[in-house]
Amino acid sequence: MAAATTITITGAGGQIGYALLYRIAAGDMLGADRSVRLRLLEIPQGMRAAEGAALELQDCAFPLLDDVEVTDDADVAFDGANIALLVGARPRGPGMERADLLAANAGIFGPQGAAIARGAASDIRVVAVGNPANTNALIAAASATGVPADRFSALTRLDHNRAIGQLAARLGARPDAVRNVAIWGNHSATQFPDISHATVDGIPLIDALSGTLGGEAAAHAWLDDEFIPRVAKRGAEIIDVRGSSSVASAANAAIEHVRDEQLGTAGGWTSAAVVSHGEYGVPEGLVCSFPVVSDGSGYRIVDDLPLDARARERFGASVAELVAERDAVRNLGLL
Ligand code: NAI
Repeated sequence: MAAATTITITGAGGQIGYALLYRIAAGDMLGADRSVRLRLLEIPQGMRAAEGAALELQDCAFPLLDDVEVTDDADVAFDGANIALLVGARPRGPGMERADLLAANAGIFGPQGAAIARGAASDIRVVAVGNPANTNALIAAASATGVPADRFSALTRLDHNRAIGQLAARLGARPDAVRNVAIWGNHSATQFPDISHATVDGIPLIDALSGTLGGEAAAHAWLDDEFIPRVAKRGAEIIDVRGSSSVASAANAAIEHVRDEQLGTAGGWTSAAVVSHGEYGVPEGLVCSFPVVSDGSGYRIVDDLPLDARARERFGASVAELVAERDAVRNLGLL
């Protein structure tokens, strides 16, 4: 077996952390032939919860788990890290303005980016899960002097999976029969879940939907009035029904994001927020969700898809929101 992979998880004492750790240690993320070393980073208030999770990891006696360390020191946590999942973030408190939220998170993701630059392994890859995920990834990348920006990404795989889940349910299809859905833009309610290139069992998805709903006009109405808003606002729906935010599905998406980035997307594409090099006119440097593929050496944007006027308008609105977030952070002198 190859040398163990060192994986740093921030916010490991929180809800998503608790749903992530055991699946990673069981081999769900990197496969059954790669042992792992876990570094759990918390703030002092979260240390006991993370320490408790580490005790339970020991009690699982996972054969692939080499070692677990719990710390509140970012330099210890990122030392030698090959993979980092940045989950811990500052939630929006009562009366908190957007600028306050961005500033509070810049105060977390900036120093973590700097600690990654100081100590992580040369092959480090980082995914921001904590919200606002795209801009948090941007801040971490900007603070990680010397680390290529394309090592940083943000999670929109949950949105991608939510879209597939809705489509599969509407069509009575298996989720794995639905291919080439795309999430464009920000991980927020402005995102654009797009089915224009998608297929189900090899058939254009719009044709299957038209067949199920009784015509193309009805299919477009369902997409605009139900599908897109439901996917974009699914997080709020989960909170409303469950009384708490998405946890298991978020952890599952984070595992799939890292797995596909590290092991490759076998056929088709997935969605991830990655650094733009100007693809589709998105300003260079923004961390924006695109359809992506990986051959195991990191995500690459699928950059030759035709987008109609309606898609460009929706995507453009979400990119405008990302630009506004970046500018707000810049205006605070944090970027
Ligand atoms: P949680 O509140 O249960 O856990 C967050 C943990 O992070 C806490 O234990 C806290 O002590 C810790 N933390 C805070 N600041 C930290 C720092 N500077 N360093 C290390 N740890 C720190 O929250 P939960 O449910 O685990 O969610 C985590 C984040 O993931 C939230 O920002 C949430 O909005 C986001 N999220 C993102 C999704 C996505 O698709 N991108 C989906 C669902 C949630």
